[in-house]
Amino acid sequence: MKDKIIIKRSDFIFAKRLLWKMRNPRTRFDEKKFMKEGKDYLFNYADENAGPLDPNRRAFLKGVLVVLGVAAVASAVPLVNSLNPSVVTLKKFPWMIITDADGNPIEASAVQVNDPTIMLFQYPMLGDITFLINMGDENNKPVKIPPTSVLIPQTGKTYLFPGGVGPYDSIVAYSAICQHLGCEPPEIHFYPPQYFKPNMPTPDFIPPSAYQAGVSAGAKSIIHCDCHGSTYDPWKGAAVVTGPTVRPLPYVQLYWDSTTDYLYAVSMNVHAPPIMDHTSDLEGAAYLDTYDESTGCPKLILSKGQKPQNCYTPLTSDGNTFAGGSG
Ligand code: FES
Repeated sequence: MKDKIIIKRSDFIFAKRLLWKMRNPRTRFDEKKFMKEGKDYLFNYADENAGPLDPNRRAFLKGVLVVLGVAAVASAVPLVNSLNPSVVTLKKFPWMIITDADGNPIEASAVQVNDPTIMLFQYPMLGDITFLINMGDENNKPVKIPPTSVLIPQTGKTYLFPGGVGPYDSIVAYSAICQHLGCEPPEIHFYPPQYFKPNMPTPDFIPPSAYQAGVSAGAKSIIHCDCHGSTYDPWKGAAVVTGPTVRPLPYVQLYWDSTTDYLYAVSMNVHAPPIMDHTSDLEGAAYLDTYDESTGCPKLILSKGQKPQNCYTPLTSDGNTFAGGSG
């Protein structure tokens, strides 16, 4: 096992951003090219995708290469997990409008139903990658996802998942960081119902073990992690279908503003297990770029008329937030 690298918070944010870009299908890091061309490819890639590569950042990346090794960086998996950042804390869960990669608010009606490529956003901290899924049936008709009680196999306790939001109550958001050992997309995938019907031959791209587990559990679609086979049911609050994970994927509570069709991430459930590797969902390595430390609120808020002093979401006794309204 290689040593951890102790780094400055600004470098950690840079590394998080870099890793995010490396895994984004639109800006995918070309591992083969990197193995062939070496560090120059990495430097150029980082410069283009994660911000200007000043001498300090260049030295930081060189250090990462030396300590982690080229193969580890190429696979991108251990890069940020091997760093040792300081922890920052949120006072409460802020509201955050969900935007596309260009910073434009996403409209709920435009979120493709059953999209297996999945939309991702980060909440509540930088690097907390989250699936945004518009759940549908095998004909791609949106399906209402009702509230449900979710079992935590690790403790035997349960918590309440409040169900989907949007025009059809079909849009849900779950952490995209596997609760077993932290694998992230593309290792963890969403498989919609049309690829996952009982009694059909197992499609090549679904691991047979995941397919069988889902069929046995009566799941209509699944989220499956290729790293060690954990499977989750996105129709039922991302409850555990198969281990080795013993914890469901945490959900992010969404709010849909029907007047604008915009979606907001507003909270997480403090009674659910936190995101993998976190002691609390209110702690993390770095604030989101959109978070304003001076007001403690997101910069890109809010419902019309909402003021910074009420940009937080009060929790109810079951760990959930309000059921609508602008706070
Ligand atoms: S990290 Fe996902 S199953 Fe192990």
